[in-house]
Amino acid sequence: MPTHCTFSAEIGRQPLNRKLLQQRCDTLLHLLKLERAEVSVVFLGDAEMAAYNEQYRKKQGPTNVLSFPAAGGDDGFAPPENELGDILVSVDTARREAGREGHSLHHRLTELIIHGMLHLIGYDHERSEAEALRMWDYEKELFQQIQTARSVAMPYLAINVDHVATVRQARGGAEPDPVLAASLCELAGADGIVVHLREDRRHIQDRDVRLLRQTVKTRLNLEMANVPEIVDIALEVGPDMITLVPEKRKELTTEGGLDVLANAKKVGKTIGKMRKAGIPVSIFVDPDAAQVQAALDAGATYVELHTGRYCEARTMEEQEREFHLIEQMAELAYESGLRVNAGHGLDYRNVHPIAALPFIDELSIGHAVISRAVLVGLENAVREMLAIVRAVG
Ligand code: PXP
Repeated sequence: MPTHCTFSAEIGRQPLNRKLLQQRCDTLLHLLKLERAEVSVVFLGDAEMAAYNEQYRKKQGPTNVLSFPAAGGDDGFAPPENELGDILVSVDTARREAGREGHSLHHRLTELIIHGMLHLIGYDHERSEAEALRMWDYEKELFQQIQTARSVAMPYLAINVDHVATVRQARGGAEPDPVLAASLCELAGADGIVVHLREDRRHIQDRDVRLLRQTVKTRLNLEMANVPEIVDIALEVGPDMITLVPEKRKELTTEGGLDVLANAKKVGKTIGKMRKAGIPVSIFVDPDAAQVQAALDAGATYVELHTGRYCEARTMEEQEREFHLIEQMAELAYESGLRVNAGHGLDYRNVHPIAALPFIDELSIGHAVISRAVLVGLENAVREMLAIVRAVG
């Protein structure tokens, strides 16, 4: 491993995504074409940082980052050629700075690692204003590249076929069949199929879920309320994942995210049962930091961020505000170790910015695709959506 990340005991209990930080350090060396170099990055607290700051710079108090390029010691021994040196980062200071700048902790830590690394390879903003600007520009460019080095080249597209069943239920017959529709979506390139088995069975029926389990070749995501009857069906059928959503009898469609904070115990219990059965759980949440944290605490594997308010925004300013919130929450969830899906209300016009977010694994889209399918055919409707989503890769 080219980067050796160490986490001091002083920050022992702080929630840090160590794997992500290690990954980002390694990506940085790769971007700098220094794969063979060895760097040590130490994450510590303010007290230790203040001690180093005093010892090596004769300055009082902590600082955010210190770099020590590898150099020969007093003993005359030169360091190995590929050893770059050490970077010390104060997590406490980074946290304060992140709060001030409205960024996540891992965002700020990544900026500081980049800053420290550029110092190690010879950049110095204190030498001249021109160099400070050059270093600043390069830092921004590297940050952008690290952030967009996503695990999947583009998000997966899962199609929700509930509304095929809505049309069928309008006459109470057998046509159109959501099971057949799901196969057509897959043939057109969809990466997954989503159905919501509601307690009132207004569209998807038990028979659909059972048949889909047998026919879906990609991934079957069962959307459901956290109620015993549906939990039992999920455990029996064994979808590839479930998504817990709130459900109200009178709503036209799912109206808001699940209040995980208020239902933590019940949600945790269901996650425990699903874990035993090997079924990953996603929780549909509003883009809200407390709900994301509660989903993490409850043991969810994914959160699906509710994009409804972004999609329904009536002004550009409102849409931008909602988008920024989704962007921040996607980053926060990803950095805390959750996988991130998004959906609700996405259509051919508003999907692109959401699909382009680097932290989104999968988009769940139903109404827009099924509506368009009535006019252009289901496979065309899926392909047109895929063309937009895949364009971000
Ligand atoms: N995600 C969740 C959790 C949903 O409840 C729904 C609606 O069933 C969707 C995504 C898809 O929303 P839409 O049909 O508006 O694309």
